[in-house]
Amino acid sequence: MVRKKIKGTLLFDGITPATLHSEAAAAAEILRRGGLVAFPTETVYGLGGDALNAQAVAKIFRAKGRPQDNPLIVHIYEAEQMRELAAEIPAAAWLLAEHFWPGPLTLVLPKQPHVPPETTGGLDSVAIRLPAHPTALALLRAAALPVAGPSANTSGRPSPTTADHVLEDLAGRIEAVLDGGPCPVGVESTVLDLRGGIPRILRPGGITPEQISQVLQRECELAHWVQSSPAAPPSPGLKYTHYAPRAPLYLLRGEPERQLAKLQQLQQEWQQQGKRVGLLVSAESAAALQGTDIISLGSRRRPAEIAARLFAALREFDARQVDVILAEGYSTDGVGLALMNRLEKAAGHRVIEVG
Ligand code: TXA
Ligand code: MG
Repeated sequence: MVRKKIKGTLLFDGITPATLHSEAAAAAEILRRGGLVAFPTETVYGLGGDALNAQAVAKIFRAKGRPQDNPLIVHIYEAEQMRELAAEIPAAAWLLAEHFWPGPLTLVLPKQPHVPPETTGGLDSVAIRLPAHPTALALLRAAALPVAGPSANTSGRPSPTTADHVLEDLAGRIEAVLDGGPCPVGVESTVLDLRGGIPRILRPGGITPEQISQVLQRECELAHWVQSSPAAPPSPGLKYTHYAPRAPLYLLRGEPERQLAKLQQLQQEWQQQGKRVGLLVSAESAAALQGTDIISLGSRRRPAEIAARLFAALREFDARQVDVILAEGYSTDGVGLALMNRLEKAAGHRVIEVG
């Protein structure tokens, strides 16, 4: 067990199964006093604060520089706590909780009146999730509070998948960070709205639409919303830029062989213009490419591995100060849907179709 201070932020480092409970109890004390503690989850690190304390929640928005109308996910440690937060709980919510909690699924339900509007971005719904990470669960249990937890990054930057990423963005702005090592899933939870007739995926994530449909024995729909739409987005998060590395990122889409040819062509063109070009590719393509700024995310055959490494790779390109990033696209099967959603967001409108 090591505790050190980085720019005033307390880092709980080297946590072992033997020290987990005492460390979690100390961090929980900070939450109970209205302070902020970043904690590991299976998806990404979250920035925790007491979800029922409007002042603690206001601190979360300030620390991240997050727009006030973008609501927070509330983390719980047992499904029964849904009753404390949600005014109505359909049978589908209990069924999904039974199958996927603890795990990367967030349920949007009508909120109880006592959940502060600061937490829900002024909406009358609340997003709830029970994370699958021993450190998160120990913290939530010790705090015995519902804990609001957006990703623990500065708003707009790639989500943090290590404690170092959290410190990069938030050291000196929050009370503490619990280091639980790298996050195994690496992309955020699936956000599912259960308030209408048809379950609606507001954000694809760690649990796939196929998995949800199989449990509910019905189709779910994917929320679509375009920036130019006059209607309010189904989830406020949809209208904000996300996951943006500092350099512009171009995303390729199409057959792998054609993508590779285009990668080689653009790499050469841009290098001739004197640019430092970062290539964000599969292991298969990395083997066929040459250059110093190539990050291999893993084999196309294992998209979960690629997803797990994506955000760290975007931050790595920031550190190397590349001028432009060229990223390969993937199939949207399974977790590929969440992977491509994050890549598309990182790219903004810079998508190159190669057929
Ligand atoms: O995996 C995750 O979900 C991580 C970890 C820390 O749990 N958390 C996370 O939180 O990604 P955040 O704040 O970065 O993203 C939450 C998303 C946003 O897009 C937000 O707009 C949406 O969930 N959201 C939250 N409450 C909502 C609500 N009541 N209705 C619709 N969307 C909501
Ligand atoms: Mg986020």
